[in-house]
Amino acid sequence: MINDYDKFAKERQEQLKKGEKRPHRFIEKPMMRELLPDLTGKKVLMLGCGTGEENILLRAFGTTDIIGIDLSEESIRLAKESYPDCKFMVGDMHKLPFENNSFDFVYSSLAVHYSAEPESVYNEIYRVLNDTGRLLVSVGHPLRWACDEIEINNTKHRIISHGVDNENGEVYGNYNTFAKHDHYFKNGEVLSFYVGSPSFHFKKLKKAGFIIEDFSEGICTEECKYIDYNYWNKYHEIPQFMAFLAKK
Ligand SMILES: C[S@@+](CC[C@H](N)C(=O)[O-])C[C@H]1O[C@@H](n2cnc3c(N)ncnc32)[C@H](O)[C@@H]1O
Repeated sequence: MINDYDKFAKERQEQLKKGEKRPHRFIEKPMMRELLPDLTGKKVLMLGCGTGEENILLRAFGTTDIIGIDLSEESIRLAKESYPDCKFMVGDMHKLPFENNSFDFVYSSLAVHYSAEPESVYNEIYRVLNDTGRLLVSVGHPLRWACDEIEINNTKHRIISHGVDNENGEVYGNYNTFAKHDHYFKNGEVLSFYVGSPSFHFKKLKKAGFIIEDFSEGICTEECKYIDYNYWNKYHEIPQFMAFLAKK
């Protein structure tokens, strides 16, 4: 596991419950809500479910049959304690402990981008979905990381940019190449994940057999403008996440 989700599980859960995780509250969950279909009567897998809060969102779309799976033992312990009406288990998204055709719907928020091999995760999701099954998956958007600033030789650059002397073809970072990124949080948490372009994920999903039905780039909602203007200002023009709705 490349990240210490066990260590920060309790803190993350408290922040999620209080609505203090701005990317989730103002960008990612609204984006997912926009793409979620009716889930009445559907058997749903929450892949990379963390401490399980997303079951509340999925229930609002009609399902009562939810299984969550995550690699972090502490997250799953907290999920079981908090949401006894759902089933939760520890497991790896690269090798799902389920039979073929087990689910009607797979929901996965911000988890697939921790894999260095997203194609193997998409293949596993395809395998466990039944013939009319669908997937809603979100991952980080490369433009968000492109906009962070770095200093090289006393000159500030965007992570993905041409050099100051644009004439000689200098380039920093990449958009086109699937690559690992590290993000440092104020609380000491470091998250390492992999960022690919929209077309990279589109092609991997297609290769796994999926047909893409819808796509969204997550930008900050208007609600945020009145609660945290600076955050809204930063992210209402630049997408932080992207999501694909796909069918088998
Ligand atoms: C950013 S959190 C998202 C949690 C939840 N989906 C949400 O949006 O609140 C990413 C989660 O992916 C899980 N994860 C990372 N690698 C995984 C893997 N190989 N298999 C299953 N879960 C994994 C982490 O443990 C973590 O709980």
